[in-house]
Amino acid sequence: MLNQSNQKITCQQIRIISNERLAKDIYKMALASSLQALPGQFINIKIKDVYLRRPISISKIEKDYFEIIYKIVGKGTRILSTYQKDDYLDILLPLGNGFELVKNKQVLVIGGGIGIPPLLELIKQLSTNNKVTFLIGLNDIEEHIYQEYQPLVTTINKSVSFQGNVIDYLNNHHLEYDYAYACGPMPMLKALQNYLKVEGQISIEERMGCGFGACVGCTCQTKQHQYKRICVDGPVFRIGELDLDEY
Ligand SMILES: Cc1cc2nc3c(=O)[nH]c(=O)nc-3n(C[C@H](O)[C@H](O)[C@H](O)COP(=O)(O)OP(=O)(O)OC[C@H]3O[C@@H](n4cnc5c(N)ncnc54)[C@H](O)[C@@H]3O)c2cc1C
Ligand code: FES
Repeated sequence: MLNQSNQKITCQQIRIISNERLAKDIYKMALASSLQALPGQFINIKIKDVYLRRPISISKIEKDYFEIIYKIVGKGTRILSTYQKDDYLDILLPLGNGFELVKNKQVLVIGGGIGIPPLLELIKQLSTNNKVTFLIGLNDIEEHIYQEYQPLVTTINKSVSFQGNVIDYLNNHHLEYDYAYACGPMPMLKALQNYLKVEGQISIEERMGCGFGACVGCTCQTKQHQYKRICVDGPVFRIGELDLDEY
């Protein structure tokens, strides 16, 4: 089976190199596989004692391994956090379309909460040919595990000098950009879709079933009332393409 980028989707048993706690309920897992993938694509992980696979974005792609960063929100991610180095995971990959890379732009990349991980590989790849500004919105500075990417940070509580969400930040600072990428919670994406006046792409992290187009468990609607499946037609869409009001 091929994904939208004509890559073969395979089911692999992949060895865990490390599964490390980075902050409260946030973990980074390194997996031993030389993965050919695009920033923004995801994997679907079979977790013991959980029925459906769980989709997690690829956050870093290196020659012999790749990484994911995940937050414990329920049973599946809690069990995932108990896996150890040298355990194997049954993983379906690579899934979804991934971000299209632009060139020679002033790019604003905006991440919210656990929507930040898929943007990390994107930033790495965009930085070669663009001027990139990275803005992240967190609840609390304790969730800030992204120092090496030197983002502008705003928090909902008073833990950094600017308090508010990413839209508040944009309203209070003059940032130069002519293209945007975003991933984060749906209220943030809805607000950004109305706020941003430049072209760009957003990635949607909504609930999924199969992850490869077979169950229709992830449909969304475009503004032209066409149905799209987030797992195969997305998770990356053009800003303005989807009718996000249904969420
Ligand atoms: C394409 C894609 C990429 C993703 N990438 C990441 C990632 O890089 N890191 C990460 O931590 N998470 C990511 N997620 C979300 C992740 O898949 C869910 O958090 C996970 O499946 C929850 O499983 P669980 O068994 O722990 O929780 P469940 O017991 O299934 O649910 C616990 C709670 O989490 C909520 N929840 C479940 N799934 C989602 C979801 N998809 N989005 C928002 N809330 C959800 C439920 O409504 C419930 O309140 C991604 C989701 C998608 C669709
Ligand atoms: S999750 Fe099954 S079709 Fe998208």
